[in-house]
Amino acid sequence: MINKIHSLGGYIHEYQKSIANPQAFWGQQAECFYWHKRWDRVLEWDFASPSIKWYVNGKLNLTENIFERNLYTHGDQEAIIWEPNDPNEETRTLTYSELFKEVNKFANTLRRLGVHKGDRVAIYMPMLPELAIALLACARIGAIHSVIFAGFSAHALSERMNDATAKVLLTADGGYRGSKVTPLKEIADEALESSPSVETVVVLKRTNSEVDMRVGRDIWWHKAIDGQSEECCAEEMDAEDELFILYTSGSTGKPKGIVHTTGGYMVYSAYTFNNVFQYHAGDVYFCTADIGWITGHSYIVYGPLLNGAKTLMFEGVPTWPDAGRFWDIVDKYKVNQFYTAPTALRSLLAMGNEYLEGKDLSSLKVLGTVGEPINEEAWHWYHDHIGKNKCPIVDTWWQTETGGVMISPIAGVTPTKPSFATLPLPGIQPIIVDNEGKELTGNSVEGNLCIKFPWPGMARTLWGDHQRFHDTYFSTFLNRYFTGDGVKRDEDGYYRILGRVDDVINVSGHRLGTAEIENAINEHPLVNESAVVGYPHPIKGQGIYAFVVCGELSTGGEEGIRKSIMQGVTKIIGPIARPDLVQLVPGLPKTRSGKIMRRILRKVAEGDASNLGDITTLLDEDVVDKIIDGALLEVKR
Ligand code: WTA
Repeated sequence: MINKIHSLGGYIHEYQKSIANPQAFWGQQAECFYWHKRWDRVLEWDFASPSIKWYVNGKLNLTENIFERNLYTHGDQEAIIWEPNDPNEETRTLTYSELFKEVNKFANTLRRLGVHKGDRVAIYMPMLPELAIALLACARIGAIHSVIFAGFSAHALSERMNDATAKVLLTADGGYRGSKVTPLKEIADEALESSPSVETVVVLKRTNSEVDMRVGRDIWWHKAIDGQSEECCAEEMDAEDELFILYTSGSTGKPKGIVHTTGGYMVYSAYTFNNVFQYHAGDVYFCTADIGWITGHSYIVYGPLLNGAKTLMFEGVPTWPDAGRFWDIVDKYKVNQFYTAPTALRSLLAMGNEYLEGKDLSSLKVLGTVGEPINEEAWHWYHDHIGKNKCPIVDTWWQTETGGVMISPIAGVTPTKPSFATLPLPGIQPIIVDNEGKELTGNSVEGNLCIKFPWPGMARTLWGDHQRFHDTYFSTFLNRYFTGDGVKRDEDGYYRILGRVDDVINVSGHRLGTAEIENAINEHPLVNESAVVGYPHPIKGQGIYAFVVCGELSTGGEEGIRKSIMQGVTKIIGPIARPDLVQLVPGLPKTRSGKIMRRILRKVAEGDASNLGDITTLLDEDVVDKIIDGALLEVKR
C-alpha cells in the first residue's frame, strides 16, 4: 500500500523522513508494486550532466501494476466511466477486467502491425475510452506513446510525429467537442504528407464521417482488433526505459519532447494521486483535462488506474449544451473528487450561478485546480458555490516536466490559503534563488523557483536532444532544476506561484511558447517580423498580444491583414495559439545589439506604459511612442 498521509503531523513526519533519506523514502513507496526484478539502488543522479536514474536495474511492466496486481480485488469494479459529448448518448463503463481485455487486444494488434519495444506510436484522438486503451496498450508492449492534443493543426501534428519518428499513428475519423465536429482523419492525412516515418494509421470510427482510407497504410480500428486475443504477455521493461514522450512549449520555437520513464513515473503518479486527492476505494474521481496534456496522462490515466480508482473521462466541453454541464456530470455520477483548470472556473463563474440550480453537488469531497495561478475570486466561488464551504481546494502546482504534482495542499490535511499552492509534497525540495542564483532562505522572499534534489517523476531528457534538456533546465542555475516559474514564499512558509519568468505564456491553462507563435506569424508573406507577449485576460488568465511589422499593406488593409495573421496561426499551430490582439507597428523596440526589449512590449500589452524603466539602450526611442499610440488596450502614459 502507498503510505497515506492523514494529518498535518503525519505530513510533517513524512516530509522530514523524505528529506533526511530520500532513497529510503522512495524505496518504501515502490515496495507495494510488482517488480520482475528489484532495483539495485534507488537513485543515481547528477544534475550537471544531467543524469537521473531511479530504481536502477529494476525490471517491471507498468500495466501489470494496474491489472494483474489488482484484478483479484478490483476486477469487477469500474475503471473508466465515460461521459459522451452529447448528454443523450449512452455512457460507457469499463471494469478493470474489461479494460484489461481491451488493452490486451489492442496491444496484440500493435504487435501484429510490427510495433516493437521502443518504437514510437503517435496518438491523435478524441477523449474516448480507446484513447486510454491506446496508452496502456503501448505500455503493455513497451512502445513509447506520444499523444498529440486533438486540437493541434496538421502542421503541428506532423512536426511532432517527425521529431519522434513515429512508426504508427492512431487517430479517429473525427471528434465531437460541444457543437463542433473536428475532421481528425482529414487533418491527419494532411500531416502525413510530410511525415514519412509513419507506416500505418489505425482509424477509430466515432463521427461516421466519410474519410479517405489509403490502401496499404490505413486500417479501421474495429477491423484491426477483430479476432485478437484478450491475453497479451507484458514486455519486461527496465525502470529507466521510456514510457512516453509528450511535447510541450518552451521559450524557443521548436516544441520539446519531454521524456518520462517507466519506474519513477509509475511510483510518482500513483503516490501523488493517492495523497493529494485523498482517494478512497469506491470514490468517483473526475479530472476534466484532456489526455493530450500531462494532466490527463498522470491524473486521468496512470495515477488513478494504478490506485484501482474509478476515473471519469469526459468527451465534451464545460459549456455545452450549457454552462451547467460539469455540474450535471457531478450530479449524475456522484463525483467525489473534481479536478479542473482555473480558466474553466472563471468562464463558468462569469456565466452566473443559475447553472448550479437544481444540481446536487453534495457528493463532492475534494476540489482541485491546475495549470495556472488561480485568482482569489475564482477560488472563493469554487469554494463557496461548488464545494459549499466543505471541500478543501488543492491548488496543485506542477509541470509536464515534473510528471506529477509537486507543490500542493494534501486534501483535508494542509490548511489552504486562496491562490497559494501551499507546501511541497514529501520528497520535493524547492528553493528560491535570485537572478544570480543565490538561494533566498527564510520566509517572505520572492524569486525563481528551482528544485534542488531529484524526484522519481521528473523528466529524464528531451527526445533526441539531451543538450537542450541540459541547457533549458540545468544551466541557468548550477546544480538546480529551474522550473521557469516565479514564486513567493510568504511569512508562513507557504508557496504562491507567480507565473512564468521566461518566454512561455499560459493561455486558458494551455502552455505556449511566444517564439512558436512568432514563427507562425512570420510565415505570413507580408510580415517582416513580430513579437508576442502575454497580457492579463479576465477569463483566459493570459491573452496573446502580437506586435507585427509588415512590409506593405496590400488588399484588405489593416483589418484584413490582422485577420489573415490570426488565421495563419490557427492553421500552423491550432486555435489555442490564435492571437487575441494583433497590433501592426512600424518597428519593434530593439537594443543597439538587436535584441527585442520584450519588457517594454509587456508593459504596453498590460496597458501600463507609464513606467517603462530604463530605455536608454534602445536603438530608436520614437518607435516606442508609436507603439504606445497604436496600442490596443487602454494605455496609461
Ligand atoms: C503553470 C501543467 C500556478 C506554471 C500541469 C507551470 C501553475 C506551467 C499551476 C506548467 C498552479 C501549473 N499555479 N501556476 N497550481 N500549475 N502552473 O507543463 O507556470 O502544461 O510552469 O503542466 O503551468 O504547464 P504544463
